[in-house]
Amino acid sequence: MTETQRVQKDYWSTETYEAAASFVPHFADTLVQSIDFKSTDRVLDIGCGDGKFTASFAPMVEYVMGVDYSPSMINTAKTLDYGGAETEFRVVDCRHLEKEPEIMNGNWDKVSSNAAFHWILKDSSTRLSTLENIFKSMKPGGTFFFEMCGHGNAPEKLTSFMFALVSHGVPIEKAEALCPWYYPSDVHMKEMLESVGFQVKQIELNPQPLQLTSTDNGGLEGFLRLIGAQMLDLLETEEKKDSAIEQMCRMLRYGTTREDGSQWITYASLRCVAIKP
Ligand SMILES: C[S@@+](CC[C@H](N)C(=O)[O-])C[C@H]1O[C@@H](n2cnc3c(N)ncnc32)[C@H](O)[C@@H]1O
Repeated sequence: MTETQRVQKDYWSTETYEAAASFVPHFADTLVQSIDFKSTDRVLDIGCGDGKFTASFAPMVEYVMGVDYSPSMINTAKTLDYGGAETEFRVVDCRHLEKEPEIMNGNWDKVSSNAAFHWILKDSSTRLSTLENIFKSMKPGGTFFFEMCGHGNAPEKLTSFMFALVSHGVPIEKAEALCPWYYPSDVHMKEMLESVGFQVKQIELNPQPLQLTSTDNGGLEGFLRLIGAQMLDLLETEEKKDSAIEQMCRMLRYGTTREDGSQWITYASLRCVAIKP
């Protein structure tokens, strides 16, 4: 597979997401409860995925547009019930919002995001411009609220991916280059947000234990296959992919598995509320 094909491939499957990562849309429940939604609000949800997170606040507002670059996720998002709110879902690469005049219209009361910025902001060449575009797209006085993975998020997962890929013949530089996650500290994220004009009202980094789904629903293996699909594609055959996953699960099982068989990782949540003055 060429680099271009890999970039264009949709690595997200709603079925796998529902089975192995059904807890993700709830990461930001506490954050959502702290936001003062108005029935007239127009909200842009960045990296909306299958719409489950969007549905957690849509009934409280007038209109939500969800944007995500996965056609599979957007197709599912279009089928959900949003409790009466007007909704629209579009396939958009959020690293390039400047190409979307209907998003960049300065008309959003709020911009939201859950569990997406550690993917979207990975690309350092578009990191600041993405935040700057969000700032420009909002009304003055608007609220930008999001949760993402931050510094210290499941470091053992990242290490095991690197080890398994290298031990299956992938050069370390190639594995590093394709690592899809960016986990900033709260200090650095605050600086970046302020540098594009936001006033940061709240930012906190909170590492916490996170229970994965049962092994019947995918568990650790399903989770690794879902979030690491892009990295696993560096291996040419299904046999090599299966072998790498098996190796990772063996390496991780002591640190992740409790006495009752449940599997846990460390989720470092980076939670933020910022205002456009
Ligand atoms: C873990 S899912 C979170 C989905 C949803 N927000 C939720 O809470 O369930 C991460 C999402 O980020 C999306 N994503 C990653 N990079 C993106 C990009 N450059 N532009 C738009 N969406 C992106 C993926 O397609 C995926 O749906």
